[in-house]
Amino acid sequence: MCGIVGYIGNKQAAPILLDGLGKLEYRGYDSAGMAVFDGQEIRIAKAKGRLKVLYNMTRGGGTMPGTAGIGHTRWATHGEPSDTNAHPHSNEDASIVVVHNGIIENYMKLKKKLEARGYQFHSETDTEVIAQMLDYYYRGNPLEAIMKVMHRMEGSYALGIMFRDHPGEIYAVRKDSPLVVGQSPEGNFIASDVPAILKYTREVYFIENEELVCLKADSLNFYNIDEEELQKEPVTIEWDIHAAEKGGYAYFMMKEMQEQPKAVADTLNPRLKNGGIEIEELGMDEEELRAVEKIFIVACGSAYHTGVTAKYVFEGLARIPVEVDLASEFRYRNPILNKNTLVLIVSQSGETADSLAALRQARALGSRTMGIVNVVGSSIAREADSVLYTWAGPEIAVATTKAYSTQLIALYLLALKFASARGTLRKEELQTMLEDLRQLPEQISLLLSHKEKVQKFANRYLAAEHIFFIGRGIDYAISLEGSLKLKEISYIHSEAYAAGELKHGTISLIEEGRLVVAVLTQPELYKKTISNIVEVKSRGAFVMAVTTAGNTEVEKVADYVIYIPETNPYFTNSLAVIPLQLFGYYVAIGKGLDVDKPRNLAKSVTVE
Ligand code: AGP
Repeated sequence: MCGIVGYIGNKQAAPILLDGLGKLEYRGYDSAGMAVFDGQEIRIAKAKGRLKVLYNMTRGGGTMPGTAGIGHTRWATHGEPSDTNAHPHSNEDASIVVVHNGIIENYMKLKKKLEARGYQFHSETDTEVIAQMLDYYYRGNPLEAIMKVMHRMEGSYALGIMFRDHPGEIYAVRKDSPLVVGQSPEGNFIASDVPAILKYTREVYFIENEELVCLKADSLNFYNIDEEELQKEPVTIEWDIHAAEKGGYAYFMMKEMQEQPKAVADTLNPRLKNGGIEIEELGMDEEELRAVEKIFIVACGSAYHTGVTAKYVFEGLARIPVEVDLASEFRYRNPILNKNTLVLIVSQSGETADSLAALRQARALGSRTMGIVNVVGSSIAREADSVLYTWAGPEIAVATTKAYSTQLIALYLLALKFASARGTLRKEELQTMLEDLRQLPEQISLLLSHKEKVQKFANRYLAAEHIFFIGRGIDYAISLEGSLKLKEISYIHSEAYAAGELKHGTISLIEEGRLVVAVLTQPELYKKTISNIVEVKSRGAFVMAVTTAGNTEVEKVADYVIYIPETNPYFTNSLAVIPLQLFGYYVAIGKGLDVDKPRNLAKSVTVE
């Protein structure tokens, strides 16, 4: 996820662009840049690092005179943070300049075609391909060139574009990435999100998919992909600036929970190609996948919980032994590693000290290593032998939600890749499971739409002191995450137990009215967990069950049931975790706590 801004009017553009980019830093902050037409040329300034680097480099924009410009703050997806990979990108003579938010899924294919026609590239980004494609199609009519490029691109994009021979115009277009247009007496704006322009105007136009806009200093013209002009009505924004940064939500955590369908789709779809799974950055061919004798999944916190889930998925589908370790334990237990083991380090930040230390130890012991990381160019991403990126975009809330969901997707894909390579999964089984994966974003959206129902239930437990989560198999892994979500933001004591463990001690803690959350999404373990529900009920517990639609007999034993849509049992964590995230969120909200910044916690634990 990145942030784009643009301005054309009667004021100097650069200071406005820098101000707007500052309001979008929550969308990406590993590099920034801007381009301004100075009357002759389109001048570009860009740099790795936070926006401040660009600000200082241009002396607050003073070194870039002109009244029309576009800017960008980056969250790297293709190509790690660097001056070269920073936006804007341009064609060879900088007569066409582009800023982009999104992922062009077929950029490598388009890049190869352009290279075959003599085009040269200087960055690793998909965005530079867009600029060069515009150059390839441009014959003097910006709209015509843009529409031709739109027909060739697959994926998501919000673009700001400038053409040197059309100095009084800025163009913008979107598909699946957000874009707003603002108008004011001092000029017109484009932005990825409202906060960037709220200081200058509250009159905005929300651009629909595959709509284009031409901005001039005193006019706006909207078009559809068939070059037909459109009439659009402005919307007046009532939000204050802080609410706007959270997309109108009270907290980043809710905004990020709502972003899960898109984050899951962005992580999944670019890797589903030609009826199979293609992970370009995997760095392992089928023979190397077959040569792996054991996998270690090493992580902390919620990332560790994805590993507990993945153990069942890898062992169940690929029949390969998997050990799951807390990174802080792994590094001190002298693990038995060699060249035939693969150590997977799962980390949103890519900077967690224990996970990074575990990675370094695994490499020192001769194991192959792979990172599953959200932050492109982070330490774990750079030091692992290969990296499988999650494309969740920046995650601001300390309690992870969308990054967690995309880590699960990455692990499912990897497990399916191993299963296919090792011949433990038939083609038709793979196709069925890929279809199940494709359904997940929509199913997650459906579960998020029931948030008020979860909130009503959560409000009954604001004064709870202890809440237990129980499950078997993958349901145990789901319980671990549900329990952590609750305790880290509501400060209520909570534990997750393998349901079969209750009788070995824990059940002594069950008292009258104690809330027990039971997760039942694994068909072959379902009846066993039902009996555990009966056990805790007989000791006075109040049981909330999370189970798959159709399992209505649970209503005979549980006091409150939340149903998740049907999916492959290996993938149920992606769905069952949604009501549990919402439960933790609403208990914390009900207690009046700061959900985004829970006490004593940091977003990335870069110390031991
Ligand atoms: C999860 O909600 C917590 N914020 C925490 O457990 C987190 O998952 C853990 O610190 C690992 O962080 P990482 O994914 O950045 O390595």
